[in-house]
Amino acid sequence: MSICIYSKFDPTTLAPLNDHTRQRLDETKLQDFDFAGNSVLDIGCHLGLLSFTAAKNGASQVLGVDVTPQFILEAQENLKQFAEHNASGERVTFEVAGFHDLEPAKHRSDIVFCFEVLHWLTFQGTPIPESIKKLRQLTKTDLIIEFPWDVTESSIAGKEKPLSVDEYSPELIFRQLTKHFEFVRVLGFMEYMASSQAKRVLVHAR
Ligand SMILES: C[S@@+](CC[C@H](N)C(=O)[O-])C[C@H]1O[C@@H](n2cnc3c(N)ncnc32)[C@H](O)[C@@H]1O
Repeated sequence: MSICIYSKFDPTTLAPLNDHTRQRLDETKLQDFDFAGNSVLDIGCHLGLLSFTAAKNGASQVLGVDVTPQFILEAQENLKQFAEHNASGERVTFEVAGFHDLEPAKHRSDIVFCFEVLHWLTFQGTPIPESIKKLRQLTKTDLIIEFPWDVTESSIAGKEKPLSVDEYSPELIFRQLTKHFEFVRVLGFMEYMASSQAKRVLVHAR
């Protein structure tokens, strides 16, 4: 089970353990969001770094879900250590769940994180319009989403069976975001993996 190179952190302090993670955390701009009193659903939470960051920044409740059971086991181990040193750990929960298991009636949250998961959903057969429509249903107000810009991006082009431009393109993604959200703002292009020709964009939709 591979661990993302941009997700290496000390679970007690959330201190990044390499430059990719340090830069990535800066670039997510999560520190600029007002989480106070807001619930957060972190879809594809991996080992929990973004979930812990939201909790530490005041989120009232954070649910991190991931389809990979091993990642959730590791996130739960990280949570034990995080909670020993951070009272906000009490407000974090992790559970194994895939995108399709999520139900608006049960999982709808004030803020939804969908970082580096959209292309995986597309690889798994969920068309972009369907994914974005469901993300709209899962958030009460805000969606913070990071995704590979287009099919030439290394995390798509490098796969055995890459996606076609009909399946995945910035135009398709932004058309769907602007269809379902009133306000769509590009927060920036991420540079933390630039050395591997990665081109990823961070977007806030409301
Ligand atoms: C590239 S990692 C990104 C992790 C984290 N969101 C971040 O940006 O640091 C993608 C994560 O999405 C999870 N994932 C893939 N398909 C998923 C699905 N259908 N439902 C939920 N999680 C999924 C993977 O297990 C993995 O942890």
